[in-house]
Amino acid sequence: MTAPARTRGSEELIRAEEPILAHTYHPLPVVVARAEGTWVEDVEGRRYLDMLAGYSALNFGHRHPALIEAAHRQLDRLTLTSRAFHNDRLAEFAERLAALTGTEMVLPMNTGAEAVESGVKVARKWAYDVKGVPADRATIVVAADNFHGRTTTIVSFSTDETARAGFGPFTPGFRIVPYNDLAALEAAVDETTAAVLIEPVQGEAGVIVPDDGYLAGVRELTRREGCLFVADEIQSGLGRTGRTLAVEHESVVPDVLLLGKALGGGIVPVSAVVGRREVLGVLHPGEHGSTFGGNPLAAAVGTAVVALLETGEFQRRATELGVTLREGLTRLVGKGVVGFRSRGLWAGVDIDPAIGTGREISERLMREGVLVKDTHGSTIRLAPPLTITDDELVAALGSLEKVLD
Ligand SMILES: Cc1ncc(COP(=O)(O)O)c(C=O)c1O
Repeated sequence: MTAPARTRGSEELIRAEEPILAHTYHPLPVVVARAEGTWVEDVEGRRYLDMLAGYSALNFGHRHPALIEAAHRQLDRLTLTSRAFHNDRLAEFAERLAALTGTEMVLPMNTGAEAVESGVKVARKWAYDVKGVPADRATIVVAADNFHGRTTTIVSFSTDETARAGFGPFTPGFRIVPYNDLAALEAAVDETTAAVLIEPVQGEAGVIVPDDGYLAGVRELTRREGCLFVADEIQSGLGRTGRTLAVEHESVVPDVLLLGKALGGGIVPVSAVVGRREVLGVLHPGEHGSTFGGNPLAAAVGTAVVALLETGEFQRRATELGVTLREGLTRLVGKGVVGFRSRGLWAGVDIDPAIGTGREISERLMREGVLVKDTHGSTIRLAPPLTITDDELVAALGSLEKVLD
């Protein structure tokens, strides 16, 4: 008989991680043991309001009943086939995801970084096969301060030295221009350009919302120059900004969308590249793939996520609660907040550095029972589950006011 697991407290568990886990993160000192909706509970039973939502991977809250039910149902039937065979869940997932996003084809993957890598490969292949760029000459134009993931190719076009240093040699073929600068973009695009790859709102950079007209300008420019517009909606998409996609704020339809995070409902990693048939159609058997991409469990959960978004309820909530968030933050400007940017239920809040770093503010909020995380320097990001109530949001803003005081 195996001995029952010894119960370890938060401090002991944090200490246990130190020598055994690679130090790729600097988590807040909270050890979560269970969660429901907007709330998480630590090992000692302390409750916290989750104002980060897994960096938008938990847009529907923790353990949304419809998503948990879909996962349980699928766990009892079939979990993995690999793409060596068909499975009976993938067609519906692809059909409904394509319909939701107004696209024609779907390439299912797992993590966000994989979707980005896949988008880069698709854009390059399209440049050679359709646009006629000479072999190995394709370029992709990206924005400074981007965050698209952690693979060697993706960090090759990062401007964050911490993310890059020590990981070269880097993948060539990328040009970096300032974000929100159409003139710089125009100067960087030429006949070798396969795609412009940008985030419609730069999340990791601190929820940087571009000027009105930028996304429409990128669309117009890429169409005129004959290259693809690839929008990384991995963090901005699936309801967060008050629309299914952040590009909808400017009625823009990119050629390719990269989706992830919330697509897995906070249960399994699910990502996808979706786009026009002329573009995704350049891939043929053997040219790209993934053992887990499109697995039946992921497809079942992804379909349930799409079903939630089809109702429009979460997009509506993000819009309405976004007003509460904006009003609350506006009141804090000058009272410890030096500025903020928000779109829907998503904000980057710059704290007066004299009051504390983003990390210090996050720790103080944690002690008040509110979980957030810093991005850079004195900026914190607020991205609660879209299921949060108005009262909970007001309470979280009250806690922020208290720790800033
Ligand atoms: C815009 C964007 N793209 C890609 C990624 C990478 O996703 P993942 O961590 O699932 O690889 C992230 C993660 O934060 C992101 O915000």
